[in-house]
Order: sequence, then C-alpha cells, then structure tokens
Amino acid sequence: MATAQTSPAYQFVDHKFDVVVVGAGGAGLRATLGMAEQGLKTACITKVFPTRSHTVAAQGGIAASLQNMGPDSWQWHLYDTVKGSDWLGDVDAMEYLAREAPAAVYELEHYGVPFSRTEEGKIYQRPFGGHMMNYGDGPPVQRTCAAADRTGHAILHTLYGQSIKHNAQFFIEYFALDLIMDPDGTCTGVVAWNLDDGKIHRFSAKMVVLATGGYGRAYFSATSAHTCTGDGGGMVARAGLPLQDMEFVQFHPTGIYGAGCLITEGARGEGGYLVNSEGERFMERYAPSAKDLASRDVVSRCMTMEIREGRGVGKNKDHIFLHLDHLDPAVLHERLPGISESAKIFAGVDVTKEPIPVLPTVHYNMGGIPTNYWGEVLNPSPDNPDRVTPGLMAVGEAGCASVHGANRLGSNSLIDLVVFGRAAAIRAGQVVDREAAIPSPNAASVDKIMTRFDRLRHANGSAPTAQLREKMQRAMQEDAAVFRTQESLENGCRRISAIWKELPDVRVTDRSMIWNSDLVETLELENLMANAICTVYGAEARKESRGAHAREDFSSRDDANWRVHTLAHLDADGTVNLSYRPVHTEPLLKQEDGGIDLAKIAPKARVY
Ligand code: FUM
Repeated sequence: MATAQTSPAYQFVDHKFDVVVVGAGGAGLRATLGMAEQGLKTACITKVFPTRSHTVAAQGGIAASLQNMGPDSWQWHLYDTVKGSDWLGDVDAMEYLAREAPAAVYELEHYGVPFSRTEEGKIYQRPFGGHMMNYGDGPPVQRTCAAADRTGHAILHTLYGQSIKHNAQFFIEYFALDLIMDPDGTCTGVVAWNLDDGKIHRFSAKMVVLATGGYGRAYFSATSAHTCTGDGGGMVARAGLPLQDMEFVQFHPTGIYGAGCLITEGARGEGGYLVNSEGERFMERYAPSAKDLASRDVVSRCMTMEIREGRGVGKNKDHIFLHLDHLDPAVLHERLPGISESAKIFAGVDVTKEPIPVLPTVHYNMGGIPTNYWGEVLNPSPDNPDRVTPGLMAVGEAGCASVHGANRLGSNSLIDLVVFGRAAAIRAGQVVDREAAIPSPNAASVDKIMTRFDRLRHANGSAPTAQLREKMQRAMQEDAAVFRTQESLENGCRRISAIWKELPDVRVTDRSMIWNSDLVETLELENLMANAICTVYGAEARKESRGAHAREDFSSRDDANWRVHTLAHLDADGTVNLSYRPVHTEPLLKQEDGGIDLAKIAPKARVY
C-alpha cells in the first residue's frame, strides 16, 4: 500500500515489496514472473511500456540444444560458448546456461510463446554463428529456436501476460533514479520518478533486481533502441560498486548501412552470404569451416578488413552486401518476414531481387554489473573476489555473469535473459526472508539521490544534453571501434574524460516534472557516460586481443597475463580505478557425473 510523506523539496510516495525488479525486457519479466509465481510480493518498474522494451527487437532466436533438427548436446553448446567467449567467460555460469537452456525454452513454450514449427510440430531451430556440432568440428548445428524473425517480440508479450496473471504489480513509465543503499553496503530499494504525474516514489524491498539492458546508445550507430542507456550500470557505479569487462563491445556484422537497424544473423543461418565489391564470398577465405557463420567478432573484423583493403561496395566502397536473393521467396516470407520489411523500409531493397547493404554495427555489451550465476551482484574484496552485495541482483544485458566473456554468440542473449531471470527468481526464493520486515529507506541515501535529481532538473549551463551526447557517441564510435590501437584508445580516454568534465555545464531547459524528456535524456546521458568512461579506460589498459577487443598493436590473446575480468570503479570526478578478478575455470558438474571433459574446454587457438 502506498503512503505519502513530505520532505523539504519533494513529496514521496512510499511502497514496500519483497522484490523490486527494474526493467521489463526479457530478463526483467522472467525474473518478475518467477518471483511472483512463488508468492513474493513483486513490483516491476519500467521506463517504457513492457512490450516496448528492447527485447522486442530480438530477431533470430534463442539457443538451446533441443535436438529437434539433428544431433546436439548441452556439452557442445557449452564448448561453443566457451570458445565464443574467447576463454574469458566464467565456466560455471556458461555450464549453467547450456544445461538449463532446454528446460527454459520448454517453459517458454508452455507459457505460450508461438515458436515456428517443423513438419512434425516441434520447435523450429536454425543455424547461427559459432554454434557447431561435435565440439567445434562442425558442421553448423541447428540450435537456435525461432519464432520467424520476431522471437524477442513473441517472448516479451508472453512473459508480460504471464507476469500479470501472477499478480506482479507494474509501475510503467517510471524512471529509476538510483539505488537506496544502507551504510553497510546493503541495497534496500530504489527511488523512481513517475514520468506521467511527476511524483517521486520510494520503493523499499528485500531484493532489488536490475534488468535495465545494455548501453549501446553510448555509440553513434547501434542496433539498440534509444532507451538502451545503461541505467543499471550508472546506478551501480554511483553506488560505489564496480562494473566488469566493459571493454568488450559487440559489433553485429549486419546492421543496415546508414540506418543501423538489425538484419538478423538468422538471414545467414537460412543461407544468406556476404560478398565484397569483387563479388567474392570472402568469409570462405577467413573461416573455411564456418564461413559466414563464424562468430560475430570474427565476421565483423573480416568485413572491416575487406573495406579497409578497398573491397567495400557502394559509391564510397564503405560497406558490404548481404545476399538473400538466391533463397526461395517462400522461405523469406515464412522465416524472415521482419527483415524483408526492414530492408525495404530502411535500405529500399527488395530482398528477393537485390542484396542488402550492411555494416558492422554496435549491438551488445558483454560487460556489465558483475554477478554470480544466480544473478547476485558481486562487490569483490581483496580476500573474496566473489563477495555478494546483499539485496542486489542484476540480470540480462545489464549484468555480467560472465556468460559471454569477450564475445557473445548470437542467440545466446535471449537464452541468457530467461535462464538467468529464472535463476534470480530461484535464488530470491531461497534468500529472501518472507517473515522479515521490509527495510525503511536510508534518509542520507535518499537525500543524495534527490540532490542529484534536483541539480540536473535545474541545470543551467551552456551545453545542451544532445550536444554532449553526440560528442560522446562520436568519440566512442571513432576510438573504441572494431579495431583498436593504443593511440585510438588514449584518444578515446582523453575525449570521454573531457566530456565528463563538461557534464556540470549541461543545460536542461524544461524544469517541469511531467513528461520532461529533456531531463530524462540528461539522466540517461549521465548513465551512458558512466558506462562509456569505464569502457574506454578498461580497453586502453587491456594489452591483448580477445573476442570483441581487437588491438592492432597487441594482436594476440595473452592468457598468461590477461585471462582475468576487468573491474572498473568510477569516482564522482570521473577517475576510473581498474583492478582484476580471476575467471572461474571450474565447471559445476564433474566429468564422472556427466559433466564436460575439462580438456575439451582448455584454452587453444580460436579458429572457425
Ligand atoms: O542476429 C540476430 O538475430 C541477433 C541475435 C542476438 O543478438 O542474439
């Protein structure tokens, strides 16, 4: 029950819940549903209507070794994920993902997700990059379960309906400002702003789950929605907690040239291929076995090399063609209707007749808020690299379990959302004491949150938010790109630090409390900047190439020195303090109990 309280500047509406989930994408909704199913009093706060969350844009599918289209196993899936991560992922989390994936997908099916079907009525599965048979020996395995090319849309709508059915309470179009923290480091809730009526709400909870998505919009060109502003990462950084592995930013090979909209990897899974200006299927040269279905970091680098070497297509030779025009129009209509429409709208291309102009485009953040595989947020100490922050969880792209390491495989994101959203709910069911009183909000913490809010609301500097945001996006795009050098990264650090220093000079022109999008964008800019600055400093420090972090001056992977997770602590003045924590290399199951043979996942050269 909400109660009103007054403070000198703002009036608060107070709420008490067992669990508060921030974000209503796939991970947030799966966590919300799982909490509510167990009878925990659960709130879900979201800045957009749930079915507009960015998961709705996920196209190609969700990975699980169902074996509907041929042989597969969770051990093969685990191997591919380890190799895809370039040996940076935590093996326990990756094993949990691969083992739990089939059950999580069948659960979705039973909740009502309308998957595409095979002739026999089984869930349809397509090939996707980096997913292979037989511990990488190939050929590509059909592991990615799909609802045409609108899989995220189907999942999101189903999970929202199920959450409502189980009486989760939604606070829609509420912007989460910051975490309420006790002095001992326990998270006890979150303060949020109702965009529609301007009221400020204090949510007290025994557990807060951050499911706020990635920060793709730190870059100029991204497949991510404009709402992907790393709000959870910003909140965590301001709470004095670290962000992990932020230097690993994924470029999807096939963003539409110019517009940046996603053309699913499922297009190549269904038989599409890339060509250069000489009409050559160049991926055959770089990845003789997997070809166009090598993992994303590899394909993005190969495309960039082709363009750099003068074999790009178009007037400026600055992009690549993706051909689908050889495929049966009936297949395109049935399996890829969404991207056929996107190609028409955003590139003016009829995919049955012409190739689509594409370019590697920022798509996913492997880094995020460090967690264990139950979603509990970690605050490593010198004597305990796995120390848990009481009362706080993070799931989905906001979190870093670390299941994707240095590079995520396509279709491992949707499965991450549901497996770890579900895991967080299971864990909360174990650790949330239903009998205990719900904590009261710490006054000093709330004051700090409102002081920042009020400062930004009345910011009267000379730099409009959009101007600072564009500067940040251009710096990230140019200096923390597919290929990186010491020079580009030092430049990136310098540019982003300079923008950080300009933040106090930001200008907000709208002072109102109702639908003040100027203020929302300014709050989002501060969140983006927290993520961006940790990204460039982490990247500058990492003197090796691994997964999506490809340095021209340190072109090899260096396991002896760099098979470690980066932790970035951000000070209020924009100083980034880096430290490192070990990668988990031990699987959960022993081999004699059916687990993977450790020798299979020992580090080796990553060849596709
Ligand atoms: O290409 C795609 O459909 C994207 C999938 C993913 O990022 O997992």
